[in-house]
Amino acid sequence: MRILVLNGPNLNLLGLREPHIYGELTLQDIERALRVEASRLGVDLDFRQSNHEGELVGWIQEARGVFDRIVINAAAYTHTSIALRDAITASGIPTVEVHLSNVHSRESFRHQSMIAAVCIGQIAGFGSLSYTLALEAACNVKLKPKP
Ligand code: DQA
Repeated sequence: MRILVLNGPNLNLLGLREPHIYGELTLQDIERALRVEASRLGVDLDFRQSNHEGELVGWIQEARGVFDRIVINAAAYTHTSIALRDAITASGIPTVEVHLSNVHSRESFRHQSMIAAVCIGQIAGFGSLSYTLALEAACNVKLKPKP
């Protein structure tokens, strides 16, 4: 199974950025831990980050026929991006939404996710463990047949 893990804007600053909210690990630390988990699960991982909405949309479009699952932390685009939502829908790839912080316990603008309804599910609030849980969920979820 091939898994594409996408990270949105400002996640390249993890470790420096509001560590009381996002923790002290860098994105590279998270990738390293996820690769250990991926090899335990026996899956291939591609791990990317972009600060640009269009680049994320392009990667989702190109994922069709290449990846079996997407795990995405769309960061701030979670709350604004209909383009990402449409790209996920168009790809037809089962996708898991992930967040380090518990977005529902924060500012009200973070309570809304534009992508949640087109994802299999959302994992939020467990820090870097959210990624591990999301990878496990993406690999093990029993998909319902499409109507
Ligand atoms: C985030 C939560 C978002 O609201 C925020 O804009 C981020 C990170 C998280 O992982 O907790 O950049 O996606």
